[in-house]
Amino acid sequence: MIFKKLYVGLLGLATAVLCESTMRDMSRTTITASTSSTSLSLTVATPGTPVSPKVLLIANEFEFEYLEAYNFTTRYTGVLFDKLFVCTEYGTVCKLECGEELVSASQITALMMIPGVDLKKTYIIISGTGGVNPKYGTAGGAAISTFGIQWEWGSMFLGDDLPSNFSGQYFASYAQLSPDKYPVTVGSEVYKLNEALVDRFYAVGSKVSFEDVSETAQGFRATYEYDAAKKTPFLAKCDTVSAQVYWHGDVAGENVEYYTNVITNGQGRPCNTNEDDQGRLLALFLGAIHHTVDFGRVSIIKAFSNFDRPPPQLSAYQSRFYVGEGATEPGLRNAWKTIIAIVHDVLVNWDTVYDTGIKPNTYMGDIKGTLGGVCDFNSTSSAAKGSVQGS
Ligand SMILES: *[C@@H]1O[C@H](CO)[C@@H](O)[C@H](O)[C@H]1NC(C)=O
Ligand SMILES: *[C@@H]1O[C@H](CO)[C@@H](O)[C@H](O)[C@H]1NC(C)=O
Ligand SMILES: *[C@@H]1O[C@H](CO)[C@@H](O)[C@H](O)[C@H]1NC(C)=O
Repeated sequence: MIFKKLYVGLLGLATAVLCESTMRDMSRTTITASTSSTSLSLTVATPGTPVSPKVLLIANEFEFEYLEAYNFTTRYTGVLFDKLFVCTEYGTVCKLECGEELVSASQITALMMIPGVDLKKTYIIISGTGGVNPKYGTAGGAAISTFGIQWEWGSMFLGDDLPSNFSGQYFASYAQLSPDKYPVTVGSEVYKLNEALVDRFYAVGSKVSFEDVSETAQGFRATYEYDAAKKTPFLAKCDTVSAQVYWHGDVAGENVEYYTNVITNGQGRPCNTNEDDQGRLLALFLGAIHHTVDFGRVSIIKAFSNFDRPPPQLSAYQSRFYVGEGATEPGLRNAWKTIIAIVHDVLVNWDTVYDTGIKPNTYMGDIKGTLGGVCDFNSTSSAAKGSVQGS
C-alpha cells in the first residue's frame, strides 16, 4: 500500500531541529561507546574458569550506559571473542556488549564457545532500542516480544525495475503468484519464543512505573492517529522485526506489517523495528540446537527510541533525520527498569520457579519445527509455477 502524505508545514520541523540540537546524538553511526564505568576495574578470569550465570543481558555498548544496577567485576575472554562479556562477582548476572544483527550472530557464537561459560540454564534477555509502530506502542516505552521476525530475507528491485503491481522493493526469495502467498522459506525468517515466559515477564514488568518523554516528544505523540501512540510510555506486548537496514515511514511500516501478517499467519504484532534481534536470535537458536542454550529461557525486552513512521505533519525524511531517535534516553531507562524488576524476580524465585524452567505453553522455535513440536504459525510454501523454483 502506498500512502500519499500531505505536506502540512515546517512548524513541527523547526521544533524538531531545536530539540535535536540540544540532544546528545544517539544515532547508531556516531556512537563510539566510551565510558563503561564497569570496565575500569575488571579482573580478567583465568581461561577456563567456570561461570554459569542465572541471567545474561545482551545489548549494544552505548545502551548499557543506562544500566547501573549491577557491579560487573569479572571479564571472560576466549578465542575469536573480541567483545565485552562481564559478570557480577559470583557470576550471577552477566552482560554481553555486542554489535548489531549479523555481526552479533558471530559474536554470540564465539561467546558460546568460551571454555567454562555455561549458558544452559541462563535466562537471556536481549535488550536495546528500536522504532515503535504507533499502532502498538509509544516512543519512550518498551516491549516484550514473542516473535522475532527477519524482514530483509529475500529479493529486491529498485526504481524502474520494480514491477508496477507491487508497492515495496522487497520480495520473497522466490517468485510468488501474489504477495499474500506463503513464501518459500529458509528457516531463520521467524523465531517464536516461550510464550509462558513472556507472560510471566510481562506480568512482572508491567508493574514498573515509567518516566515520561520530553515535552517536545509529548507534542509529537499527540499528533499520531493511533491511541497507543498518544499514551504515556508503557510496556507493550508485541513483536520485533529486524533487518540490516533501518527503515522508516508509512510505506515501509505498512509493508513490514503486511509481511509479518503473511509469514506468521496473522499471529505477529510487529511493533519494534531494529537492526539487532534476528542475528542474536539466530546465534542463540544455533546454541539451542546444540544444547548450549535453552531457547525456552530467551526473551526480548526492548526500548522504543522513536516512532517507526512520521506524525502527519512531517515527511518520513524529516521524522527520521530531524526528530531522530529522540526518546532513546527515557526509553532505555524504562526498559532497564523493567528488566531489573524481571531479573529480581528470576533471582528471588530461582529455586521455586526458574531453576527447572518455565514450560512453553504454545509452540516455540523456528519456522521449520527444528527444536521439535509442530510449528503453529507456518503454512505450505509456494513458488509461482514456471518460475525457477516453482514446479
Ligand atoms: C557496587 O559497588 C559500589 C562500590 O563498591 C557499591 O557502593 C554499590 O553498592 C555496589 N552496587 C551493587 C548493586 O552491588
Ligand atoms: C505482477 O507483475 C509481474 C511482472 O510484470 C507479473 O509477472 C505478475 O503476474 C503480476 N502479478 C499479479 C498478481 O498481477
Ligand atoms: C512448518 O513446520 C513444520 C514442522 O512443524 C515443518 O515440517 C514444515 O516444513 C514447515 N513449513 C514451512 C513452510 O516451513
